[in-house]
Amino acid sequence: MENVMTLLLLVSAILACSESAKILVVFPGPSKSHGILGDGYVRHLLNAGHEVTYITPFTYKNPPANLRTVDVSSNFKLLPPNLVNLKGIMDKTSVEMTAIFMLSAMLEMAKNTVTNTDVQNLLNDPKEQFDAVIVEWLFSDIGAGFASVFECPLIWSSSVDPHWHILQLIDEPTNPAYTVDFMSTYFPPLSFSQRVNELWNQLKVQFFKYVWLDGVEEKLYTSLFAPIFDKRGRKLPTYNEVRYNASLVLSNSYVTTSGGASLPQSHKFIGGYHIDDTVVTLPENLKKLMDGAKDGVIYFSMGSNLRSKDLPDEVKISLLKMFGSLKQTVLWKFEEVLPDLPKNVHILEWAPQQAILAHPNLAVFITHGGLLSTTESIHFGVPIIGIPVFGDQFINVGKSINKGFGLRVDLAYTMSDELKKKIVEVTRNKRYAEKAKELSFIHHDRPVKPSQELVHWVNHVINTRGAPHLRSPALDLPLYKRKFLDLAALIAVLLLAVYILLKRACAYICSQMCAKKRNSGSKKKNN
Ligand SMILES: *[C@@H]1O[C@H](CO)[C@@H](O)[C@H](O)[C@H]1NC(C)=O
Repeated sequence: MENVMTLLLLVSAILACSESAKILVVFPGPSKSHGILGDGYVRHLLNAGHEVTYITPFTYKNPPANLRTVDVSSNFKLLPPNLVNLKGIMDKTSVEMTAIFMLSAMLEMAKNTVTNTDVQNLLNDPKEQFDAVIVEWLFSDIGAGFASVFECPLIWSSSVDPHWHILQLIDEPTNPAYTVDFMSTYFPPLSFSQRVNELWNQLKVQFFKYVWLDGVEEKLYTSLFAPIFDKRGRKLPTYNEVRYNASLVLSNSYVTTSGGASLPQSHKFIGGYHIDDTVVTLPENLKKLMDGAKDGVIYFSMGSNLRSKDLPDEVKISLLKMFGSLKQTVLWKFEEVLPDLPKNVHILEWAPQQAILAHPNLAVFITHGGLLSTTESIHFGVPIIGIPVFGDQFINVGKSINKGFGLRVDLAYTMSDELKKKIVEVTRNKRYAEKAKELSFIHHDRPVKPSQELVHWVNHVINTRGAPHLRSPALDLPLYKRKFLDLAALIAVLLLAVYILLKRACAYICSQMCAKKRNSGSKKKNN
């Protein structure tokens, strides 16, 4: 039976791959982790035999034959220089990355991307054709315009766990009572005040994006895309026709990282696709170090955007001292050489993270809680201590606590004592490692690998011209019908009518009764 299944899978894989398609992948975000996600799409689609055009701010040395890159590295200039600086964030001198800040900043980035000379050449060349366009959703929906230009299916890539922003583009927003925004600092189950706060926050951002900013966004869409449609002799579709036209959301998430939100058919999990099937081998010196660590290894990295070297000096010193007092071997991904290192602490300027996480002697991963690091720790079954800093890191760490394989330490000048306590707890108490292993099993126990799922769904969308059968019927109803506002209005009108009738009737009856009283009174007098 199993053999037959394998054979069937193989045959269907070959059939699916036999047609080479032209795919445009748009990942313009100037951030390493987003680049890793874009690269993952490109790698798997090329392996499946497709031709890929890739809009990216990162330069590709020696791109493979079927890959063409379009450079939007000027997007790096758009971010405030101090945005992801650890000291700046701790001292609150950096711009705070709120949803409202991101919505405005990312609109600017969308504009910078579309107006880029090479992107303009691509969009304005009538010979260019694509079978599908994959766009990373980054706070603005403008990227949907790419698919409309080429009259082909649109696939949104979502870098984080399912959230209301992106789900409302293919279905309906999630319920804030149990699915929080990806930038929330707390996570379900919510207390009364958190629940109210979450509702308020989502309504506020909703209002900002879809009422306050919407005119601006729509105008930008028109100014960016109208000339392109003009040149092609086509009428510009409305912004709503374009932004609600996606065939799928492919989500860098899975049940192991997300919180089990209810999801439409056009949402597919592919979390973990960025991880290679074959783990790179450790460099010889690192392998020796980890093999020989009889008390286990602690790996500390704040990810690819945040740099440990930006930590305030006193924090670096207290962390070093604390690490020096541990019996475990500590690997710290750090971008500069530190003097006076304790014997058990080793600095890695570059860390082969997945290979380190895969090593059996690794005891705990101290991380900022980015979704890539969190997914990798689940993939390899390693417990974490999260020090969340911005974005979705708070809820990622929150979920790891809920799921039982993580603990949290707040980013602070005095965090080293707290961190030591948590390290002792995670390394002594077996339940964190056991939970991580259990989640790792769930993570891998899927019918096919996330990379195969990615290729399958992209092929499916291409082969069915946009997979209209997956489209949510919610998209075809205006808000007032979805929320039964017409019924509410009808009930209100009826109640009002009943109220007026009753009032009139009462008034009439009263006046009759009063008249009777008066009449009988006057009769009495007459007698
Ligand atoms: C909507 O998507 C379909 C394919 O799914 C595509 O053919 C069509 O051009 C798109 N329309 C707009 C307005 O983007």
